[in-house]
Amino acid sequence: MEGTSQEGRVAIVTGAARGIGLAIARRLAQDGVKVALADIDAQTAHSAAASLGEQATGVSLDVTNPESWDAAVGQVASRWGRVDILVNNAGIAGRSAPIWELVVEEWRDVINIDLTGVFLGCRTVLPRMIDRGYGRIVNVASIAGKEGNPNAVPYSAAKSGVIGLTKAVAKEVATKGILVNAVTPAVIATEILKQVSDEHIAYMTSKIPMGRVGQPEEVAELVRFLCSDELTFSTGAVFDISGGRATY
Ligand SMILES: NC(=O)c1ccc[n+]([C@@H]2O[C@H](COP(=O)([O-])OP(=O)(O)OC[C@H]3O[C@@H](n4cnc5c(N)ncnc54)[C@H](O)[C@@H]3O)[C@@H](O)[C@H]2O)c1
Repeated sequence: MEGTSQEGRVAIVTGAARGIGLAIARRLAQDGVKVALADIDAQTAHSAAASLGEQATGVSLDVTNPESWDAAVGQVASRWGRVDILVNNAGIAGRSAPIWELVVEEWRDVINIDLTGVFLGCRTVLPRMIDRGYGRIVNVASIAGKEGNPNAVPYSAAKSGVIGLTKAVAKEVATKGILVNAVTPAVIATEILKQVSDEHIAYMTSKIPMGRVGQPEEVAELVRFLCSDELTFSTGAVFDISGGRATY
């Protein structure tokens, strides 16, 4: 698309094979951004990228693995010359259960993907962004990280961690042309909901004053703005997208 301020920017969106990540990738592509759809499900990421056209590419990435990050970012930088935008979106919900029924591996899996994955993503791209004096990073947290959802202790803890990480990293690069923000969606209609119980979905939906779940495209619209040149004076901020659920 011609003429948007984002024309020619280069973005990596993690967990973009489906769901919110795919909606974000599609929205960025509409603005003329070159987008790498990075996902552990590389095959689906490749076909999703093909559906977005020539300015999108699929990339294999396990967000928990530092070498995988180096390879993925290197691949995108060799193809398009740089990385302007990173959306740390990949995540899992984990099993719905009270803390005393969880085994430590279930805790570690959620923390590794949802929190360590964001740490590794920021750590990998920031030196390049600092060199170029430009960057936009958006971390997809969750209302669970603000409110704490019962039967989702690892997830709530990981997402709180993403909020703290966002605020801290943002200050480290605040004078370097790089803005780092987070979004906190409430329930959004995607496949992630298959991981949790119907009771848990009903609990989360009942907390939303607007009385409905959100759609991936609604999150994508907010993230698009946070990735853009139009965003100039917000960093270390947490943007609510919860149909009114957030109380702060
Ligand atoms: N859907 C919701 O209700 C909701 C609410 C708040 C926050 N979120 C957050 O939004 C983000 C996207 O969620 P979604 O609902 O689109 O989920 P989804 O399950 O539809 O998609 C998640 C994607 O992440 C990928 N992924 C998983 N582990 C990975 C890894 N180790 N490395 C790379 N990719 C990996 C999956 O393959 C999948 O394509 C997550 O961080 C989630 O916690 C979702």
